[in-house]
Amino acid sequence: MAKHLRRVLCVWLLVAGLVGAWATPDSGSTRLQWLKAEIARHDELYFKKNAPEISDAEYDALKQELRSLEKNAVAAVGDDRTGAFPTRAHREPMLSLEKAYTEAELRAFMETAGRTLRREELAWVIEPKFDGLAISLVYEERKLVAAVTRGNGQEGDDVIANVLTIGGISRELPADAPGFVEVRGEVFMEHAEFARINAERTEAGEEPFAHPRNLAAGTLKTIGAGEAARRRLSAVFYGVGAWDAGTKAPLSQEALQGLLKSWGLPAVESVTAVNADGVWAAVEAFGRARGSLAFPTDGVVVKVNAWAAQRELGTGDVAPRWAIAYKFAPERVATRLRAITLQVGRTGTITPVAELEPVKVGGSTVARATLHNADEIVRRDLRVGDWVYVEKAGEVIPAITGVDLDRRETGAVVFEFPVACAECGTRFVREGATVRCPNARCAAQVRKRVEFFASRAGVGIGGFGPALIGKLSTAGKLGSVADIYRLTREGGISEPVLAEIERSRTVELPRLITGLGFASVGRKGAGLLAEKYGSLPALAEADELGSEDRALVVELISLGVNPRPAGLPENR
Ligand code: IVH
Repeated sequence: MAKHLRRVLCVWLLVAGLVGAWATPDSGSTRLQWLKAEIARHDELYFKKNAPEISDAEYDALKQELRSLEKNAVAAVGDDRTGAFPTRAHREPMLSLEKAYTEAELRAFMETAGRTLRREELAWVIEPKFDGLAISLVYEERKLVAAVTRGNGQEGDDVIANVLTIGGISRELPADAPGFVEVRGEVFMEHAEFARINAERTEAGEEPFAHPRNLAAGTLKTIGAGEAARRRLSAVFYGVGAWDAGTKAPLSQEALQGLLKSWGLPAVESVTAVNADGVWAAVEAFGRARGSLAFPTDGVVVKVNAWAAQRELGTGDVAPRWAIAYKFAPERVATRLRAITLQVGRTGTITPVAELEPVKVGGSTVARATLHNADEIVRRDLRVGDWVYVEKAGEVIPAITGVDLDRRETGAVVFEFPVACAECGTRFVREGATVRCPNARCAAQVRKRVEFFASRAGVGIGGFGPALIGKLSTAGKLGSVADIYRLTREGGISEPVLAEIERSRTVELPRLITGLGFASVGRKGAGLLAEKYGSLPALAEADELGSEDRALVVELISLGVNPRPAGLPENR
């Protein structure tokens, strides 16, 4: 059973770690998340409640599907090269780390190392495992010449322009540094910066980012250093790759940290332990402190301290034999399900949301969690008043992973999914697992569309956020996106907001098209449409659009909306 649970946990962590984009579910990641939660639920039923709901074969099928999806996820991140940057080969490959998920696994790893070295006790270094993306700084003749992502391990993207926007990266090493060295570390985003950017996005009506790792990766891969500089990234260094043979190497991991500091680089802070018990005590202490750290971590890295011992242990196919990553299990807490509310999306998709008794999980307070769709509520038999378990998926997005049936109150009623929209009264329609309100004119949908149009993902109308949109909607002044261009000072709109609306008339065409949010036209599709049609009048004839969409475009033209071609500067 321990092995089984461990495997489940491995899958959990792997999936949580790899699929960070849950805030904007696509079919693959949603399915992955569902499978993971479902398997966890069946484990609980099987092991804790002794009341399995499905056969072993059905359970195995779920596991099999998860494994295959998870493999794709691995493939998707197994190579981070984008084609947008020059690639550069690593002189020494960038490897991965072996992972341990239990104390026993960690101890087994340390024992094997000790046995190989024929040593009773070994000195270890315990470092935080930063949850970002690996980077290799290349210094030639002590000058920083490249900053290369892991890529496929052999070669990666040279993102030096963006790395240079990070504070504390030395461009030059002191005279006693080696003539050639690859300095290895991690680029990440601190929690506070992640929260700042997400607050801004929410304010602008945009989807928040799901995970600081994804945001750090996206920022590092942004073309044009300007955008990267506006999002504050951080870096830390913990190792070296290839190293000029002529130079005296440090004798230990601890000494290496000192050396990196003397080169002016931010080096990882660590603790040391002289044996396995000491390591475990340090790991537990770190686990307790983890919630209050400024940076995202998903575990610790335990390394043999002495370089001579590291060399003797050597490297396996994909990972060194002298280091291991111990990954923490996601924190799981119980809380009450106060209510289930429905959220209307801009295309009418209805998403049920769990309103929870606020509870602290992984360092922040969680009061809501998405329930994805109506089936999820039935499958879990969630009832208002239930005690549910909340975990932070990918350590950031809260998810409900189980129900404590023992604590269910007698008389708890089965949740009846509403059959009609509370806002417009239209009967919902079902499309597979998705419930939709088919009334595109429903005020709730219109508000969402207007929010999106006005957000920075769309035309970017400053000061035109959900609060003002809600007020105008209630007053009957916003029946569609086009109505934005009918608003007046007399109608109670402030001068600055009117100026912003005015400015948005000549926004770049791709942004306007993105903002209109046509079915299955995202930012990329909007760019393609803008390139193909070049102007709103031409777009009004586009076969790709439905008749309602074309009518909206015609209406916008009549209201004086006249976007400029992509790349043309704003005419203030
Ligand atoms: S040492 C041979 N130390 O975790 C690889 N890695 O899952 C040596 N990471 O590829 C890596 N914090 O991107 C090391 N203190 C730390 C780390 C760390 C984060 C990342 C790194 C590595 C990945 C493996």
